[in-house]
Amino acid sequence: MSVEPFPWNAKFAIGVELVDLQHRYFLDLINRVWDGFSLSEDEVYQRRLIQELRKYAEFHFLSEENLAYSLGLPHLSLHHERHMELLGELDRRTEAVLREGADAEEFFMFLISWFSGHTYYEDRILFAVRET
Ligand SMILES: [Fe+2]
Ligand SMILES: [Fe+2]
Repeated sequence: MSVEPFPWNAKFAIGVELVDLQHRYFLDLINRVWDGFSLSEDEVYQRRLIQELRKYAEFHFLSEENLAYSLGLPHLSLHHERHMELLGELDRRTEAVLREGADAEEFFMFLISWFSGHTYYEDRILFAVRET
């Protein structure tokens, strides 16, 4: 597998300390899933790695939503729906890569586009209107 890990870059920070901290760890987990896929074809191990990522995503989504709730930010229910969609897509893609022979590199690119698309853009918009 030739895809390089996707490093954290300061430009990914959205300026909310708690969220940025969790996004950093989320990206680290994505890279660890990729490393795991590169090092082992053990499906049990690969599924465990994805579960670790999924559980962290669930935790992060709730944490992010609670922060947005405490700040009284608008559009929280819409953002929650996006989180649910992302988890649903992760589940579909997990089965595709583990059970249906979908390309692992494509799976990794999906995770990266999730990170750059949702955390970088949609989360930034969610927290952009907060009062400081
Ligand atoms: Fe996020
Ligand atoms: Fe989010």
